[in-house]
Amino acid sequence: MLVNAKEALKKAKEGKYAIGQFNINNLEWTKAILLTAEECNSPVILGVSEGAGKYMCGYKTVAAMVNGMVDELNITVPVILHLDHGSYEGAKKAIEAGFSSVMFDGSHYGIEENIEKTKEIIALANAKGISVEAEVGAIGGEEDGVVGSGEVADPAECKQIADLGVDILAAGIGNIHGKYPENWAGLNFDVLAEIEKITSPMPLVLHGGTGIPADMIKKAISLGVSKINVNTECQLSFAEATRKYIEAGKDLEGKGFDPRKLLAPGFEAIKVTVKEKMELFGSINKA
Ligand code: 13P
Repeated sequence: MLVNAKEALKKAKEGKYAIGQFNINNLEWTKAILLTAEECNSPVILGVSEGAGKYMCGYKTVAAMVNGMVDELNITVPVILHLDHGSYEGAKKAIEAGFSSVMFDGSHYGIEENIEKTKEIIALANAKGISVEAEVGAIGGEEDGVVGSGEVADPAECKQIADLGVDILAAGIGNIHGKYPENWAGLNFDVLAEIEKITSPMPLVLHGGTGIPADMIKKAISLGVSKINVNTECQLSFAEATRKYIEAGKDLEGKGFDPRKLLAPGFEAIKVTVKEKMELFGSINKA
């Protein structure tokens, strides 16, 4: 059964570990992440971006697939199905389709509009027992080949949004999605500490988990981060393992072209990456 993120993240915050949000793209991705979570006895958050949701034929299809897998694979650890960077319309659709948690990303609006829209989404989600993540300070990243630097959120605005009744708060602290550029300045821990001070016990989220060095991850967790999002790193692991299989000519041997064989190395590679992250985040045996 799917659960919302409230209880699991409250426990994570108190226990000083973080729960990984791993973004899914298809059946193999979802199965790899769920099986790893079960093997590691770790709670897990499946992230679905609006683009990935469309790719997988809509939120209803995704919710049905995830519910089916949790049942058929006998998954007993807490599983949270979470919309990642939802628009206002997207968040409403995911709430309707049976997601157990949604992110409404109003960070590109002015603070007043972000507040108004966040409030509406909270009301809709609360009526169904669904948790809500909000964002302050846009988290940059690569778009059309240009790498934008991550914004640093204003702690006072974080407090305003936190007080609306959101369950999880994503605040930009210099983090970005995708690979980090050579000259990246690192995470702004002073601002993180300030945000934590005035929003505690709100669980904080670190987006852009790919490529953040382990010591920074640990420090962020010690300062109140309880949810860490990872997407690109699983994609890179999957692509590398698949490329090796093809370069070795394995798809040309026997029935090596069978998708169940062709996609198997990538599937195993995702499992390895997810396990490494769960170890780093400290969520193993915390289900
Ligand atoms: P990465 O792709 O950098 O791991 O970021 C994932 C993320 O933050 C999804 O919201």
